Amino acid sequence: MTSIPVLEDLGDVAGRRVLVRTDFNVPLHDGEITDDFRIRAALPTITWLTERGAQVVCASHLGRPKGEANPKYSMDPVRARLAELAPGVELLENLRFDPGEERNDPAFAAKLVKGVDAYVDDAFGAAHRAHASIVGPPKTLPSAMGRLMQREVEVLLSLRDDPKHPFVAVLGGAKISDKLGVVEALLEVVDALVIGGAMCFTFLAAQGNPIGDSLFEPDQVDTCRRLLGLGKTIHLPEDIVGVDANGDYATFGTRLPDGAKGFDIGPGSAAAFSDVIMEARTVFWNGPMGMFEDERFAAGTRTVAQAMADTKAFTVVGGGDSAAALAQFGLDDDVDHVSTGGGASLELLELGDLPGLAALREAPNAH
Ligand code: 3PG
Ligand code: MG
Repeated sequence: MTSIPVLEDLGDVAGRRVLVRTDFNVPLHDGEITDDFRIRAALPTITWLTERGAQVVCASHLGRPKGEANPKYSMDPVRARLAELAPGVELLENLRFDPGEERNDPAFAAKLVKGVDAYVDDAFGAAHRAHASIVGPPKTLPSAMGRLMQREVEVLLSLRDDPKHPFVAVLGGAKISDKLGVVEALLEVVDALVIGGAMCFTFLAAQGNPIGDSLFEPDQVDTCRRLLGLGKTIHLPEDIVGVDANGDYATFGTRLPDGAKGFDIGPGSAAAFSDVIMEARTVFWNGPMGMFEDERFAAGTRTVAQAMADTKAFTVVGGGDSAAALAQFGLDDDVDHVSTGGGASLELLELGDLPGLAALREAPNAH
């Protein structure tokens, strides 16, 4: 297989105009950036280029403005932060203001590469999207993946290809349907799967437990029953924290009474999950164990996050909510790799490739 070109494969970049696709899709609150992790993560690539005399032009999407200019999704706050972190670097307006971006319109890609000498893709979080700015430029320009993309790919593919065992995957979040592909792929390589978050109720229901009014996916019960029947080690919660029919805080076993709602794994489950993480040599974690935004239901996620920080295992956290939880608990520096990609990290684990990577492999300078 052709390999993916890296920055060194661009040759001399001095005086050349380099388009860098970044994922600056950062969380905003009242127009202020609440977490600049994705901007800081692109700095090694940007600095590498500017130090060698390249003229860097960054381009990103922000939110989902659906092909129309919308001041709510303007790049201005990102541009201001980027100017502080990397002075002199240009940033184009939100790529998704143009309907050609998501439609992968060649005319929009042509507009992006006009006057540009080389292309770098460092937008790992968006590499699962076959959008114009991601798959278009490598068709004509010498291209490379940036340092962030390189590290993400190396770490995530190492989990697929040669993880140290025991390898444990800890999955949470609301929906099993969103993660089914990756669950099946992970079951091929992990020694144990740990399930928390609202998706555990679909598994508990599949085992015949009453789950009260907890969130679950009735159309996935059969799927969960099939996964449980594969003979693999799947750890489910043994206790649940939530509210009873009166809306009062309560702790339950795995059988929830009528009207009760589960919002977090219980203390027994959190301790058991933590033991599994402590004994592993590789751990991948994606998705919170409960509704951690509410302090009453944060304990399960906090315990898992703490175990991720404490274990000697090689620890990788998928982007999105689990990365946010880790940061909220101040533990983000205590794991080996926090991915900048949510959907992208899961898709790379599932399929071993992404549209953005495939496009780079076809670049004129790839060998
Ligand atoms: C993300 O935040 O997941 C990436 O930036 C991709 O954004 P999207 O899910 O809107 O395509
Ligand atoms: Mg997303």
